[in-house]
Amino acid sequence: MKIAFFEIKGWEKPYLKKYLKGHELKFVKEPLKKDNIQEAKGFDIVSVFIYSKVDKNVLAALPKLKGITTRSTGFDHIDIKTAKKKGVAVCNVPTYGANTVAEHTFALILALSRNVHKSYVRGLKGDYSIEGLKGFDIKGKTLGVIGTGHIGLHVIKIARGFGMKVLAYDIKQHGFVQECLGFRYASLDELLSGCDIISLNCPENKDTHHLINKKSIKKIKKGAFLINTARGGLVDNDALIEALDKGILAGAGLDVIEGEDLIKEEKQLLYDEKKSEAMAELVKDHILLSRDDVVFTPHIAFYSREALLRIIETTAQNIRCFAEKSGMCNRVC
Ligand code: NAI
Repeated sequence: MKIAFFEIKGWEKPYLKKYLKGHELKFVKEPLKKDNIQEAKGFDIVSVFIYSKVDKNVLAALPKLKGITTRSTGFDHIDIKTAKKKGVAVCNVPTYGANTVAEHTFALILALSRNVHKSYVRGLKGDYSIEGLKGFDIKGKTLGVIGTGHIGLHVIKIARGFGMKVLAYDIKQHGFVQECLGFRYASLDELLSGCDIISLNCPENKDTHHLINKKSIKKIKKGAFLINTARGGLVDNDALIEALDKGILAGAGLDVIEGEDLIKEEKQLLYDEKKSEAMAELVKDHILLSRDDVVFTPHIAFYSREALLRIIETTAQNIRCFAEKSGMCNRVC
């Protein structure tokens, strides 16, 4: 099999070479996009991460493609409908980092509850004062978890360990787990209005895009905190800025942010056809990132030593499955 890996880091190559002996491998540092499509031409499988955009045009330009493996849980960067129509199998890594992302969710929650980020910045300036740094206990507070899948359930487990009450919202409910972990499912409105901290842990799709928008954000309990470790597109940046300005939200912990790929590729925007639209989104991102009521990490919730190894192992396993049995292990289509 000929396999082209995009968005690949140096340390990943020896592992992939070891696990995929006998296959022809190509490694590309950049994401797969329409402007470097030639790098994938003639390959049976492409392996991507989330900054690759495998859309209709990319799929049309790769007629020989048989499979796509994304080295992520989310697959909103791949046009699944078109892939399915063209008979291109798509697989992901469904469970590499449920605890990893849940732990990062709490890194953001605790940074906000105890003003870790503000204290750090003061310390760098040699300022040891404590004015304005009073935090709050999370014990006894109510956490709202939107999406009780692999990650959401880990978030709930950790929250219960901290002595938090938990309300959850999901389109599919796990009654037994609810009993075991000691949380309660609620409607989205009840969750928004009844929680001190809200954690987004559902995928981004057409139903969840801008789930947190100008209308829904008004239902949030005044002074609550919003944590997003899922996908930036779940939250409308305009609504978030307004809610922070008006004190509806007391703060936000963001590992993902709408338009985060623009921040990475700021310089390339100069050549973008949809420049003004992209620039507007970028400005909003910069406004959010410079606020001291926002804790931001650059999409690293998954980025632990253990999780990265699990991603590589599962990706290799997916490819071997595909090569040997004509079927992928973790197929999403
Ligand atoms: P999962 O598929 O196990 O769980 C997702 C849950 O969301 C399911 O229970 C599903 O029923 C629920 N859901 C779907 N649509 C919903 C809706 N409209 N409203 C409420 N709930 C809904 O996925 P997992 O592994 O828990 O991951 C969740 C998301 O976290 C991924 O889709 C991905 O976008 C994001 N993620 C972020 C990472 C990061 O580094 N920041 C790393 C890994 C995942």
